[in-house]
Amino acid sequence: MQLQDQTNPSKSEIWAVGGGKGGTGKSFLSANLAIALSNQGKRVLLIDADLGCANLHTCLGIDYPESTLSDLLTGRIKRIEEAIVPTGIADLGLISGAQDILEMANPKYAQKMRLLKQIQELDMEYIILDLGAGTSFNILDFFLIADQGILAVLPEPTSIENVYRFIKSVFYRRFRKIAREDSVREIIARAMDQKNENGIKTPYDLIEQVARMDGAVGEQLKNEMYSFRPKLVVNQVRSKDDITLGFSMRSSCTKYFGITVEYVGYVEYDDHVWQATKRRRPMLTEYPMSSSARGIHKVADNLVHHKQLTIDYLVKTAPRR
Ligand SMILES: Nc1ncnc2c1ncn2[C@@H]1O[C@H](COP(=O)(O)OP(=O)(O)OP(=O)(O)O)[C@@H](O)[C@H]1O
Ligand SMILES: [Mg+2]
Repeated sequence: MQLQDQTNPSKSEIWAVGGGKGGTGKSFLSANLAIALSNQGKRVLLIDADLGCANLHTCLGIDYPESTLSDLLTGRIKRIEEAIVPTGIADLGLISGAQDILEMANPKYAQKMRLLKQIQELDMEYIILDLGAGTSFNILDFFLIADQGILAVLPEPTSIENVYRFIKSVFYRRFRKIAREDSVREIIARAMDQKNENGIKTPYDLIEQVARMDGAVGEQLKNEMYSFRPKLVVNQVRSKDDITLGFSMRSSCTKYFGITVEYVGYVEYDDHVWQATKRRRPMLTEYPMSSSARGIHKVADNLVHHKQLTIDYLVKTAPRR
């Protein structure tokens, strides 16, 4: 039994921002992390991969561009580069998504694979993908091409639940994509079913089950599990407890899923965010000294340097509410 080679063909470092639930700040984080990187002189491209509900251009304060991903999917334009528009921010380009076109929200498999390939072949330093809400295969597949998969969570039970669901879904999707053997695929498919008879509840259980069938594949899946390290950002933080949520979610993922989640930072709830949105201006450009701007820079720095938040940092910087 064999697993497919997962070598990343991408020339750029790809970050994807997802997390399951709507309104958790995925677009806010994507736009502002991209600006933070471009402020450091990096060549950055933002892609609105929220197919069907694109609004990243508004976060950046520009009009809906003439050429977008829709044109690529319909074939009106041939090369993805033709859809890149300037943002008014040095070194930062944007590819807008589709708006309200039903078939664009659900591209055919071949169309999607072509799009993912074109994204991976773009020559940038960083590409940031703003994903839509939910755990549809399209969203998971965008998340899976990323070098750094970022999860935006709000300190609210529904958002936390959705992030766990998202982690499980993306993980099983990854297994399914790399497992060639029908027998392994079948176990994975059964594991996706909440009411499965094998008692597979977590990715960890799944690996145990596969390892019992075939030790070598089990070992390979274990290695996959160790290399899958989604990054967590807690957004709209109002208290110390909200910040600690990142640490407790990290522990829960290890304990119950066997998956290492890296807690890369938090962004405070900040009125400057909606004030900037109302003015159709990016927060980081408009309020560079704000508390949310500080949070964004810290998250960007941790992602670039592959670092995590430490308890020390929390003690020094947490809001005193
Ligand atoms: N740290 C913050 N402080 C205050 N408001 C925030 C913060 N982060 C995001 N918001 C506000 O929350 C709302 C939702 O943010 P955003 O649109 O980025 O979420 P989303 O996850 O992209 O939503 P969707 O799933 O609909 O695409 C926006 O009005 C945004 O201005
Ligand atoms: Mg969004």
